[in-house]
Amino acid sequence: MEPRLLLRLLPLVLVLPYAFGDSAPAISTSAEYNTECKTCPHSLCPNTLYYSTSELLNLTCWTHGTRIISTTLWLRSTSSCYLTEYDLADTTTDYTSTLPYCGPDSEDEALTLEAATLRYKTECRICPGITCDTLAYLKEDTEVELTCWTPDGQVIIDDPYWMKTTNNCYVAQKNLYDKPDITYLDPCGPIPFLEIEKHFNENGTSEVDKRSPVRPAYLINVTVGEEYALCHSCPEEKCEVERRYVFNQEVWLQCLVDSNGTWWSETTDFCYVRNADFWQSPEGDYYRNPLCEYFEEPGSGDEDGDD
Ligand SMILES: *[C@@H]1O[C@H](CO)[C@@H](O)[C@H](O)[C@H]1NC(C)=O
Ligand SMILES: *[C@@H]1O[C@H](CO)[C@@H](O)[C@H](O)[C@H]1NC(C)=O
Ligand SMILES: *[C@@H]1O[C@H](CO)[C@@H](O)[C@H](O)[C@H]1NC(C)=O
Ligand SMILES: *[C@@H]1O[C@H](CO)[C@@H](O)[C@H](O)[C@H]1NC(C)=O
Repeated sequence: MEPRLLLRLLPLVLVLPYAFGDSAPAISTSAEYNTECKTCPHSLCPNTLYYSTSELLNLTCWTHGTRIISTTLWLRSTSSCYLTEYDLADTTTDYTSTLPYCGPDSEDEALTLEAATLRYKTECRICPGITCDTLAYLKEDTEVELTCWTPDGQVIIDDPYWMKTTNNCYVAQKNLYDKPDITYLDPCGPIPFLEIEKHFNENGTSEVDKRSPVRPAYLINVTVGEEYALCHSCPEEKCEVERRYVFNQEVWLQCLVDSNGTWWSETTDFCYVRNADFWQSPEGDYYRNPLCEYFEEPGSGDEDGDD
């Protein structure tokens, strides 16, 4: 359940607890959930570190940032990063009267941004691994705006880099047309395992990109187990043959189609092969590949809101 990305990275903590004018006494508390502690009090800001469920921490001042469910209050910890009041175990304390205000500068949101386009159908996830909840199913050629990158995501084919979008979810670099120039983007910092039910944000995922959350999935690679495998323009034998893959050729798959009881897969060449033509069974639980229909027009599915 807990993939390698959960390995707690050494926090990028500057061990200078009193270097930021935190002269007032700190309040000791703990995290109710895994929670990100950010460079600024907004969901899209990069992480300085994260606190795990029940981890103890000390708070030094309060500020305002992204609304999380019911509160716009964020607190600065002695590690000089900001976490939402919502993720604190103790939500009865009135932090605005027991702690000083962090000052107007603390409310600024500094983000790096870079445009990118998805090459394939892509799941945009709450954290960079396939056990993380999917926030959006994005079609090929969707334009996204990237805010930060992580080298510690789950390896997709051969690439562990994932990028966070301004939709507040992560896409695998492998799914982009081009590798972004990360010299212009912030690193996202250490990312904990997050779950949709515990982590919302005001402007999370746009309605347009939302679909009902289903099983996790990703680009997978399989190999042809027949002498050749025909790739058709649509998932039926009678559809035009666009490509021919040969025995043992590695093929990348995007998603699944149940065509009248027979499983087919859409490849990264945007044509369809019968799953029976591969050594592997892409429709099986092992791969957890999504159905292609999840990426179709919005409005399908029984999405509940993010209220
Ligand atoms: C919080 O502050 C108390 C009192 O100064 C200290 O003993 C404790 O180690 C601090 N905890 C953390 C997690 O920094
Ligand atoms: C959320 O979106 C609204 C409308 O686009 C915008 O006015 C508001 O500033 C956003 N809030 C945050 C916290 O980003
Ligand atoms: C998928 O790709 C990886 C990395 O290129 C490779 O090690 C692996 O053998 C491939 N799997 C299949 C089934 O081709
Ligand atoms: C689906 O299967 C049924 C029964 O085998 C058949 O009558 C029908 O023509 C098939 N439809 C397609 C689109 O292949």
